[in-house]
Amino acid sequence: MPVEQTTIIQRSVLKLGGSVITVKGDPALILRRRELERIAEEVASVHASLRPAVLVHGAGSFGHQIVARTRIHERVESESDRLAWAETQILQNELNAMVCRIFLNKGVPAVPYQASSSGRMLNGKLQSIELRPLRGLVKQGLMPVLYGVPAVEETGGCRILSGDTLTVAAARFLQASRIFYGTDVDGVFNKNPTKKPDCKKWAKISQKNWDQVKHGLTGSSNTDVTGGMAGKVYEALQLSREGISARIFDATMEGSVNRVLKGEPLGTEITW
Ligand SMILES: Nc1ncnc2c1ncn2[C@@H]1O[C@H](COP(=O)(O)OP(=O)(O)OP(=O)(O)O)[C@@H](O)[C@H]1O
Ligand SMILES: [Mg+2]
Repeated sequence: MPVEQTTIIQRSVLKLGGSVITVKGDPALILRRRELERIAEEVASVHASLRPAVLVHGAGSFGHQIVARTRIHERVESESDRLAWAETQILQNELNAMVCRIFLNKGVPAVPYQASSSGRMLNGKLQSIELRPLRGLVKQGLMPVLYGVPAVEETGGCRILSGDTLTVAAARFLQASRIFYGTDVDGVFNKNPTKKPDCKKWAKISQKNWDQVKHGLTGSSNTDVTGGMAGKVYEALQLSREGISARIFDATMEGSVNRVLKGEPLGTEITW
């Protein structure tokens, strides 16, 4: 299929959580290389028209822990704060380079897209970002790969521009039809499933059950400075009101990435 034609259909954004691609609970910086190779193969094996237009990944242990330790998202005043900001950014670039290399080795033309070189935050919310080059990359059959980063805050210092937020921003900009959040749990539950085994999964979240769903939403069992599951669902909910549905699924399960891209209803669907 010619590239122009495939890109018209190819309109999903896939986010791979830091909980999938790193050992998020471990302070050591460990990439889950085998997991990533398996996922890259699953992406490579779907028909070009079903491949995500854009990939986004989270930071996992490469980001949340250094931010929680140094608190750069709360204030940047001293030289050691500035060094921690730079260190946090560089760690994300290093993680991203490893992720992109793995996809490239599996035959997917993944290219890094550094969001904090144009993204600006205002009071912790994404104020603006230059995404126009994404269109050109996607049109030519490349798969841009965005990732969570510390971004300049207009009122001073930096805030974390998360992979979850970038997923929504990219999907909105490209008018994607679907977003997929791959994480380490099989969707959204009425209680945190990593703490409460007696939990029940929501197959769908919409305005009909939102009042019940929101009570069980908490952050993460791991260190997560961008809201964990609650942050993800709130982001997705905003977008679903604009007609772009989301699916949150367990990307650590073998075959799951391939299956959601093909349209299987895994995990939890968020449609307004
Ligand atoms: N009601 C809930 N249903 C499902 N998961 C929940 C719920 N409440 C809290 N969680 C937590 O959310 C976690 C997933 O979010 P988290 O932000 O840690 O992952 P991620 O987005 O994949 O990683 P990253 O932020 O590094 O990209 C789960 O591991 C679980 O601990
Ligand atoms: Mg998270």
